[in-house]
Amino acid sequence: MEMTFAMIKPNAVKSGLVGRIIDRYISAGLSVCAVKMHQMTSEDARGFYAEHVEKPFFPELEAYMTKGPSVMLALGGENAIAKVRAINGATNPAKAEPGTLRYDFAPSMTENVVHSSDSPASAERELDFWFKKEERYAYEMPSLKACC
Ligand code: TYD
Ligand code: MG
Repeated sequence: MEMTFAMIKPNAVKSGLVGRIIDRYISAGLSVCAVKMHQMTSEDARGFYAEHVEKPFFPELEAYMTKGPSVMLALGGENAIAKVRAINGATNPAKAEPGTLRYDFAPSMTENVVHSSDSPASAERELDFWFKKEERYAYEMPSLKACC
């Protein structure tokens, strides 16, 4: 089973979207393997977004990511990395497909409501950044009909 890291960003948490966003992932057959709420510090933002620290948009990204708590998730399932990227939609909500989380909820490129890992290497790094190995619970989900 593949595992990926996803994050519900501060504006989505404050807007009461946590349940609806997690439901989209579960409805796609993914399981929640770990979850925690955490308000990023500047140090967290600089470490987590290390590849973007020198980019011109970083100060705005850092201000957004540190302004309130996010919900950190480990999500598991077949093709979890690609599936969660597809459910989230394009980085720029103006370019996101209808029905994706960013199309439906994101007010801007900076405040784009969700994050997820973009490759197996980034999934491993990002899962390790937020969760200890023993905090991640890999399990098979029964079919939705069987469990609901
Ligand atoms: P990136 O890793 O390129 O996008 P994604 O979240 O889809 O993997 O960028 C990280 C975040 O930085 C992105 O979600 C929003 C923000 N960002 C901007 O504000 N402006 C930009 O031009 C880019 C590329 C990203
Ligand atoms: Mg990225």
